[in-house]
Amino acid sequence: MRALVMTAPGGSENSQVQEIAAPHPGPGQVAIDVAHAGLNFVDVMTRRGDAAYAAEWPYRPGKEVSGTVREVGAGVTGLAVGDRVVAAPVGAGLAEVVLAEAALTVPLPDGVALREAAAVPLGLATSLLLLTDAGRFTAGDTVLVHSAGGGIGNAVARLVPLLGGGRLIGTVGRAEKAAAAIASGYQHAFARGDDTAEAVRAATGGRGVDLVLDPLGTAALDLDLAVAAPGARIVLFGNASGGAVADLPPLSRLMAGNLTLTGFSHRGLAATAPDRLARAIRRVLDLVADGGLELPVTELPGLDAVPAAHDAMQEGRATGKYVVRVGG
Ligand SMILES: NC(=O)c1ccc[n+]([C@@H]2O[C@H](COP(=O)([O-])OP(=O)(O)OC[C@H]3O[C@@H](n4cnc5c(N)ncnc54)[C@H](OP(=O)(O)O)[C@@H]3O)[C@@H](O)[C@H]2O)c1
Repeated sequence: MRALVMTAPGGSENSQVQEIAAPHPGPGQVAIDVAHAGLNFVDVMTRRGDAAYAAEWPYRPGKEVSGTVREVGAGVTGLAVGDRVVAAPVGAGLAEVVLAEAALTVPLPDGVALREAAAVPLGLATSLLLLTDAGRFTAGDTVLVHSAGGGIGNAVARLVPLLGGGRLIGTVGRAEKAAAAIASGYQHAFARGDDTAEAVRAATGGRGVDLVLDPLGTAALDLDLAVAAPGARIVLFGNASGGAVADLPPLSRLMAGNLTLTGFSHRGLAATAPDRLARAIRRVLDLVADGGLELPVTELPGLDAVPAAHDAMQEGRATGKYVVRVGG
């Protein structure tokens, strides 16, 4: 089978499609013929060589897929060869065949297309859990999202109206990405700069925001604290630059504002609470099947096109969500 392999830390010069043996499932696993796979920034961070991502090189990227069950391992119940599914594999999903834990493999409801479904197991499930679990979103909240023009930013904007609606304010690293954020549902999108706190405060009539979703390490934490309304939640869920992170704010600052500072990790949840993650995947699929949730995706024609798309993500040029067509 064909699979994307990252041979060493670096850029697309170290990413290549190779012919390798198809894997067979162990106990509790399924093998999936991959139809589409989602692209995610975590693969870019791994490729870049950020600490604590690749356990070894060569590394096989890809953490969300849609496809058809090809083989079922011992002890697996509720899944059969030929079932249409989505899955969140630990890695190696950018390949024609992938192994996934049955606990993180979810049947596709009728009517949900494999192409769009590939964005669910990591991207959309993370976005839902950021809002509902980590962020305790309630209808009417004002939400500030950094990197609003990207995959997660786009998905959050599509989910908020389905959770009762709220005011959406995004920030982007480049002014030209503001349009993508507005198109996905943000009322305001600001290029991050010295005056961003003022702009966010003005957009909220001086009140501030109820929830901040921040994947920028600690780089924007002062901004988050400056625009947090009393009682706000700030969810830290990434470190996009890969740089060193600063100390967290002093307790007195959190106490004075009745603020909650929390973290979220899809990988952590997959390892420690797969049922919670699988529930989120099911809930998102139901929202798609009901016709309420649409997430436009950009489809790449094959695995050979992935390294250039990773380049665009790494350089901050990409907008929206990318999936790649892998199989038939
Ligand atoms: N904790 C979790 O479980 C989890 C799960 C999924 C995603 N995430 C995080 O959520 C964020 C969005 O993920 P995604 O897959 O949807 O990717 P994405 O938003 O489509 O692309 C990543 C974005 O990060 C921003 N960025 C900021 N500093 C950067 C830098 N130094 N180099 C490159 N990009 C930089 C860029 O947007 P701007 O320049 O507009 O800010 C870029 O477009 C990522 O940071 C990712 O690590 C975390």
